[in-house]
Amino acid sequence: MRSFVVNLECTYPGCGEEYSIDELNKLCIKCGRVLYARYDINAVKKSLSKEDLIHRDPNMWRYFEMMPVKDPKNVITLGEGFTPIFHAENLGQIEGYSNLYIKDEGLNPTGSFKARGLSAALSKAKELGVKKVTMPSAGNAAGAMAAYAAAGNLEAHVFMPKDAPIMNQKETELAGASLNLIDGLINDAGRISNEFADKENLFDVSTLKEPYRQEGKKTMGYEIAEQFKWNLPDTIVYPTGGGTGIVGMWKAFNEMEELGWIGSKRPKMFSVQAVGCAPIVKAFRENKMHAELWENASTKAAGMRVPVAVGDYLILEALRESGGGVAAIEDEDMIHTMRLIASKQGILPAPEGAATYVGLNQLVSEGKVDKDEKILLMNTGSAFKYFELM
Ligand SMILES: Cc1ncc(COP(=O)(O)O)c(C=O)c1O
Ligand SMILES: [Zn+2]
Repeated sequence: MRSFVVNLECTYPGCGEEYSIDELNKLCIKCGRVLYARYDINAVKKSLSKEDLIHRDPNMWRYFEMMPVKDPKNVITLGEGFTPIFHAENLGQIEGYSNLYIKDEGLNPTGSFKARGLSAALSKAKELGVKKVTMPSAGNAAGAMAAYAAAGNLEAHVFMPKDAPIMNQKETELAGASLNLIDGLINDAGRISNEFADKENLFDVSTLKEPYRQEGKKTMGYEIAEQFKWNLPDTIVYPTGGGTGIVGMWKAFNEMEELGWIGSKRPKMFSVQAVGCAPIVKAFRENKMHAELWENASTKAAGMRVPVAVGDYLILEALRESGGGVAAIEDEDMIHTMRLIASKQGILPAPEGAATYVGLNQLVSEGKVDKDEKILLMNTGSAFKYFELM
């Protein structure tokens, strides 16, 4: 297996600046926006068919040709990805959804889909000679970074709001990272992490501010296609914080169409946020390209407590191009739904995962999703991380 990664390209409309894949890069130097890894798709087509995948290990590195790490020896893996998709028949019966599915990302190492992004980002950082990493995190990303740093022999520093879930604090310490709790929100943690990185010469792996967490998260899109036998669902509902997952899946769908693995049909993509922190919902409804900073962001779902997203324009573009949309939900409904999903379906969801079901009900009542559509809810993490909420 070899990677066909070519370079990094700025995603901002009208910029398109290119950067080397063999040097450490973060945001576009020219315009400050997000960089995406690009691949030699024609060469991949000659070397790999989707049928070849059948023989590969069930983890996210099965798409190695379309991953950014060049030498397989640099891959830091704990078996992330290829999480199951369940037909949620019991849950579906409640409201009459006959084709309701849940992708259970809670089964990833460290109990959330953050494992994908951190496996990719730290593997690439290691390939580029990085020894020390730092990151702000709302919770789950911290635990994932600590674990992958441990596995890859990297030194890790985490900056977390002091009200981040206890389990995330514990797992970070357990895996040997230095944990710094700060009095503020994730964007404040981001600033402090960044200053620390500059001062101590560390690599800051903030979401979408380095180009590779994104490449890990995109594998959810590849898996959804592969697991559904290359027929994408009609609707995907995603709990949105920084939005890496939703833009990652969108990137994967476009790449797979270029590869000839899927056609032009796309799922409607929906972002769910909490009413107490809904910058993307607001920007979508106001038809804006960027979201404003959400003042006094508050929700019990730490992963969705993200008042400003560097990739806002990418999230909004995916929602609009897909014919999808947004939903804003109450914390109380989300917490109640954790119990509902667990008791009906046996899947123990993170509050963010439960939020997708609450959002779905709202979208159906607004006529944006039909009950008989093939619907996929992304349960991005495990309830085990949130015992304060149980
Ligand atoms: C469980 C969970 N769900 C969803 C999110 C939001 O993810 P994204 O940044 O891709 O929007 C997070 C982020 O911390 C999370 O931990
Ligand atoms: Zn640019």
